[in-house]
This record gives sequence, C-alpha cells and structure tokens, in this order.
Amino acid sequence: MADDQATEPGGSAGGSDAALGQSVSRGQFLTKATIGMGAVLGGMVAVPPVAMMLAPAVGGQRRFRVPALDEQGTPIRVEDLPVGEFAKFVLHFPEELPTEDERPRDYVRDRVGFVRRNPEGFTDALTGKSEQLTLISNRCVHLGCPVQETGGQFVCPCHGGAYDGDGQRTEGPPPRPLDRFDWEVGEDGYLYVTGEHSLTPDGRELDSVYGPGQPTAGPQSLFFKFQP
Ligand code: FES
Repeated sequence: MADDQATEPGGSAGGSDAALGQSVSRGQFLTKATIGMGAVLGGMVAVPPVAMMLAPAVGGQRRFRVPALDEQGTPIRVEDLPVGEFAKFVLHFPEELPTEDERPRDYVRDRVGFVRRNPEGFTDALTGKSEQLTLISNRCVHLGCPVQETGGQFVCPCHGGAYDGDGQRTEGPPPRPLDRFDWEVGEDGYLYVTGEHSLTPDGRELDSVYGPGQPTAGPQSLFFKFQP
C-alpha cells in the first residue's frame, strides 16, 4: 500500500514533468518557427529594395573603347569637327564586345550619338564642366526612341520629349537629361568612346547608365531596377 502510494505520487509527478516538458518544447518550437518565418518574410521585403539601392554602386558599368565613326563609317578626327555644332556619330560594337554573357538587356550592335566640339571658354550649363567635347546619346530617356538633333537641340518624335543643347529636358515626359558618352582623344587624334553614363536632373553625373523611363533622382529612383 505504502509502495503504491509512493509510486502513485512519483508516477503522477513524472507525468506532469513530461507534460510540462512537452508543453515547453512545443512553445519553444512555435517561438522559433515564428521568428524564422518573420526573418524569411522580412528578408523577402527588405532585400529587393536594398539590392536595387546598391546596384548602381556595385553593378556593372558599361566600359569599352570603340572608335566614333561618321555616317559614312569613317573614323572621326577631333580636329576636323566643327566648333559649336553637333555632328552625328555611330559606334559599331564588334561581335565580341561585349561578350554574349556580358551583353546588357538593351544591347544593340550599333549605337548613335552626337558630338559637339566646344568653343574656347565653354562651360556646360548642365554639369558645370568645361570640356573640349560633349557627347550625347540619341536614346530618349523616356522610352528609348531615337532623338533627332535640330538647331543644336534635341527632339523626340514619339511623345513630344525635348531637350536643350546640353541634353537637359525642356519638355515632355522624359524623367532626366539625355545620357552622355565618355570619350577620349587617341594619340592618333581620333575620337574614341569609352563608356556611357546617366545624369540626375540637376546635372550630377552618375557612374552608371540607367534605362529609359528610370528616374535618377528622388525616392522613385530607388525602386527602379538598375539596368547595366
Ligand atoms: S520616347 Fe521620347 S518622349 Fe517618349
């Protein structure tokens, strides 16, 4: 009887501990599961905007070295360019540049731009720089139509976008100035194009080129995917 009594309370206490242990384990499991799910959901929400913010800083810059050709396909000698006027130029990218793997989404084999040889004492009203040459892309930054140069300004035939002679937007839906090409004058005196970059509406030159329609300033600029 005494054994039964001793056994019963002991047995009863063991069952209670087991139940308590089970309850604690279930509680811990639920807590960990909740934290884990929170971390996953938080990551899903936070990672894309952070990646987009960092993309222009770490994303691939478009760098190359391609001779600028006139419309007849002749390399352009800087000395031969008229001063203060735009001349159209074409860039032919060889098949291997960029390679198939590196090829950006909007890659096209040929690109077109406009080059102006600036007069002595010229200061770019958009960037504030005094440079020998200004090279402007013909790709409208609204939806990518080719802009036309007319009287030293640029107009887009698609939706009425217009830009002044420094590529600053003056009318229509484009969200920023026209993109610029980077350049150098070779030892041979010919013009080479070495890269491309976008600008903010107030003329700050960025390290990367943004896609058509992508703003380069303000909160919205963080939510557009970087396009190398
Ligand atoms: S594509 Fe140039 S204004 Fe729309």
